[in-house]
Amino acid sequence: MVKSIILAAGKGTRMKSETPKVLHTIFDKTLVGYIIDAVNDTGIADENIVIVGHQAERVEEYINQNYSNAKCVQQSPQLGTGHAASMALPCLKDFDGEVIILNGDIPLITSETLKDFVEFHRANKSDLTVLSALFDNPATYGRIIRNADGSLNSIVEEKDATAEQKAVKEINAGIYCLNWSKIKSAFGALKSSNAQGEYYLTDIVKWGNEQKLSVNAFILKNNEEIFGINSKSNLAEAARLMNDRTIKKHLDNGVMIIDPLTTWISPETEIEADTVIYPSCYINGKNKIGRNCKIGPFAHLRGDVILEDNVKIGNFVEVKKTTIKSHTNACHLTYLGDSEIGSNVNIGAGTITANYNPLTKVKSKTIIKDNVKIGSNSVLVAPVTIEEGANVGAVGVITKNIPAWALAITRAPLRVLENWVKK
Ligand code: UD1
Ligand code: CA
Repeated sequence: MVKSIILAAGKGTRMKSETPKVLHTIFDKTLVGYIIDAVNDTGIADENIVIVGHQAERVEEYINQNYSNAKCVQQSPQLGTGHAASMALPCLKDFDGEVIILNGDIPLITSETLKDFVEFHRANKSDLTVLSALFDNPATYGRIIRNADGSLNSIVEEKDATAEQKAVKEINAGIYCLNWSKIKSAFGALKSSNAQGEYYLTDIVKWGNEQKLSVNAFILKNNEEIFGINSKSNLAEAARLMNDRTIKKHLDNGVMIIDPLTTWISPETEIEADTVIYPSCYINGKNKIGRNCKIGPFAHLRGDVILEDNVKIGNFVEVKKTTIKSHTNACHLTYLGDSEIGSNVNIGAGTITANYNPLTKVKSKTIIKDNVKIGSNSVLVAPVTIEEGANVGAVGVITKNIPAWALAITRAPLRVLENWVKK
């Protein structure tokens, strides 16, 4: 199995944030989380070593809580990417397989590309493979320097490059695949005699060539995948790119999305064909949406939402941690949280599941069985169960379970005082 080293010790100064760069999120998932998931989703990797430095404790706590096959190693002080990767040496002392090294701030990288990359590495019997990309404007990336015969020579950083080297359009994407036992000695040989006074990971390419090892570059097909996050503006752009990718996937699968420009769908949301998403919806977290559903306009799904077929979630409806069975409607102005809702249920406008007790901080469940009708402006105070077929009259404040087929009414009788205003 392959192992990964994720470089995430950098400060991320340009984020202008108290939060470490790699803990910034897109659709509530952290940047480093996207990288670990991409590595894990290749199915060929079994361990991730995350190099942490800036606010190491916070990153480490997050990793330990969320990823059982990832661990952190501290790098302090931060002396460059080569120094960062070398921090993993003690963890991989006796390891004799392939290691992928990648930056922690490229959330758009896909597991398909990582798999193709490792397959290329294996097919070419490579000892060291670099992921490269072609850019018309190579900006500040390290340049890929090739020999006259096209073979890989070295990587030169922008700050160390000659004018001729700066003109090269093939760049180093910052992702490497190493036959660990052959390349690991390179780290001891790195020098910091360069423009930035850092130990450059990129110098392992030159070292590999000096050792007459097989060193190759694999050219990335879609440059978007290595879009790096250095600022909040980059973060917003990456979120937009990720959303575009997700929306295209759903459109291709037969989901109808009326306005891709105002629709946000997290990458972990599954939607079946013929469901219609109306404009201005925000769908976050992990969700499963069935066939022929209608969502929005202006709906907010907050994650852990499961909708069976033919469910309607209308305007200004917020749904969280809730399962809704088929042919149920919640068409207007509603909050449904921590709930289980049956089929053929009608949730009247303005219905609220009061799932949270702010005094005890406990969240409780609302269970609504099949064929229930909830009248408008009702509050269902959880924990509460509305049994099959029961009706709740408008403005119901439901604080105890309602038996099957009953009518529950809580409102005061209407009084009309004739001529009261004139008197
Ligand atoms: C690096 C490459 C460059 C490549 C680019 C791709 C080197 C010397 N250069 O440049 O060729 O085109 O990535 O994005 O490797 N980090 C640490 N510890 C350190 C320094 C960096 O963990 O001491 C981490 C950072 O958090 C970041 C990653 O390594 O995630 C890359 O570091 P960065 O300084 O951004 O590298 P670049 O200068 O962009
Ligand atoms: Ca740098």
